[in-house]
Amino acid sequence: MTVTTDPVALNEWVPCAWHGQIAIGAALDTMIFGQDIRVERTGDQDYRVTTFGGDSPRELPVQTRYTCVFTTLGDDPRALPEIPEFDEADRRITGCGRVGVNTSPYRIVENFLDMAHFSFIHTDILGAADQTEVLSYRTEHRKDVDEIWAIDCTFYQPAASKAAAGGQLTKYLYRVMSPFSVMLYKNVATDPSRNDAICVFIQPRRETECLAYMPMAIVDEQSTIADIIDFQQSIFLQDRVILENQRPALLPLDPTYELPTRADASSIAYRRWLKAMNIRFGILEKQAA
Ligand SMILES: [Fe+2]
Repeated sequence: MTVTTDPVALNEWVPCAWHGQIAIGAALDTMIFGQDIRVERTGDQDYRVTTFGGDSPRELPVQTRYTCVFTTLGDDPRALPEIPEFDEADRRITGCGRVGVNTSPYRIVENFLDMAHFSFIHTDILGAADQTEVLSYRTEHRKDVDEIWAIDCTFYQPAASKAAAGGQLTKYLYRVMSPFSVMLYKNVATDPSRNDAICVFIQPRRETECLAYMPMAIVDEQSTIADIIDFQQSIFLQDRVILENQRPALLPLDPTYELPTRADASSIAYRRWLKAMNIRFGILEKQAA
């Protein structure tokens, strides 16, 4: 594939490595939106990202946040989201590595938003086989930050997190921060006044070839980082099987193509938002009649 020309996609910050993945002085070759890039770690916190192949090489902007190294091909990118939970001193911050998923980035976001699959795909962990109902919730487009939020979500979970001691009615808030990033807040089993923050930032290598990074800022004094990563990765690997079998891999934005149900309110809001911003990368073009 050639490099995308879609200005909407190009003007997003996307992850290209996780911080710590590359030794100081070493480099990693990877790809975003069909463009080959080289990520060099020049210091403890310092990275340089340059394009290679095709046009003459150019240096790209870079920032390290939320355990990831981010870059953008655009001249006027949307700002990275603010997630203050990552600055709270007592939280466990972990990147959980990254997982390759062969589908479009939007399918990954939609899967993350979808509570209806918990009981079937994450049985006895995030959902119970006998409590499958998705209770109604609200979605909103927060225009000040241009994000999609789903609020007042609740779901019965047998083992909501590594720290959970038993079943609980988990409260969720979802936040779609860009076409390629989404996060959720879920109430902490041991402290109802606080929320765990769990993110997915997607690196689209090509239209249907992605790497998903899962930074988390969670309240859990007991579990080891290895346990937390294990829990998160095992959930995500269950999702990957489903995601890679979904057809078409590209996302159709024509509402007649896939009929949404009530549980899909957040995905309807997400698709409407994608359509309004006129993003083309990774989208299934409407077939001519
Ligand atoms: Fe899932």
